[in-house]
Amino acid sequence: MSCQSPIVVALDFPTMAQSVEMAKRLDPSQCRVKVGKELFTTAGPAILDELHALGFDIFLDLKFHDIPNTVANAVSVAAKAGVWMVNVHASGGRRMMESSANALQQLPDNNTLLIAVTVLTSMDQSDLVEIGIDLTPEQHVKRLATLAKSSGMDGVVCSAKESNMLSTELGKDFVLVTPGIRPTGADQGDQKRIMTPAEAMAAGSHYLVMGRPITQAVDPISVLKKANKDLGVIA
Ligand code: C5P
Repeated sequence: MSCQSPIVVALDFPTMAQSVEMAKRLDPSQCRVKVGKELFTTAGPAILDELHALGFDIFLDLKFHDIPNTVANAVSVAAKAGVWMVNVHASGGRRMMESSANALQQLPDNNTLLIAVTVLTSMDQSDLVEIGIDLTPEQHVKRLATLAKSSGMDGVVCSAKESNMLSTELGKDFVLVTPGIRPTGADQGDQKRIMTPAEAMAAGSHYLVMGRPITQAVDPISVLKKANKDLGVIA
């Protein structure tokens, strides 16, 4: 049975051993896990096998951005490895996203969600101006998310602050994956625009990426269970 929780725990660790150790302290019925560039670059595809063997659904967060053929092949390999979710940059454009969606459709029984990154939350207005974009970050997010939907993406990664707007614009079935989530009272860290899990879900998010509030906690599984209980998804 697939996990009932919307929480995806970011396994941001420099080694495979530390990530697997953390995963073993979690529970695949209470969360999914996210493997990003640091972990994947050090551990390679073996980390996917390890985490699958522990029963976790995996979001492979490699944010592919390249020519259409290369990205389509990369997402196809990820889907064949059995990952639950994989992502690409929407700014790679329509042909790149359509080729990727087509590549997944051609796989028998594909269940992998294909998600686009819109504007990185680390970028502000002045960063956009420097790369030739004269829109506010919010306008650019809306433009890229609309393009992602019409290019066959299942959803986008966005700030929970944008979830309400995107859910209204693009419909409730368009999957919104949101980082920058902090349970009430948790350390904000370097995240600037945060929301609690309940606020993000109420705004229209489907999945909540949480790293340090869980992975740096003294008792990660307790924090995770409490967040699920507060959301009312798992008793
Ligand atoms: O520890 P924390 O909860 O801040 O981790 C959030 C995770 O989500 C990290 O893996 C970070 O790279 C990722 N992320 C993010 N903001 C984005 C996209 C991804 O924080 N816009």
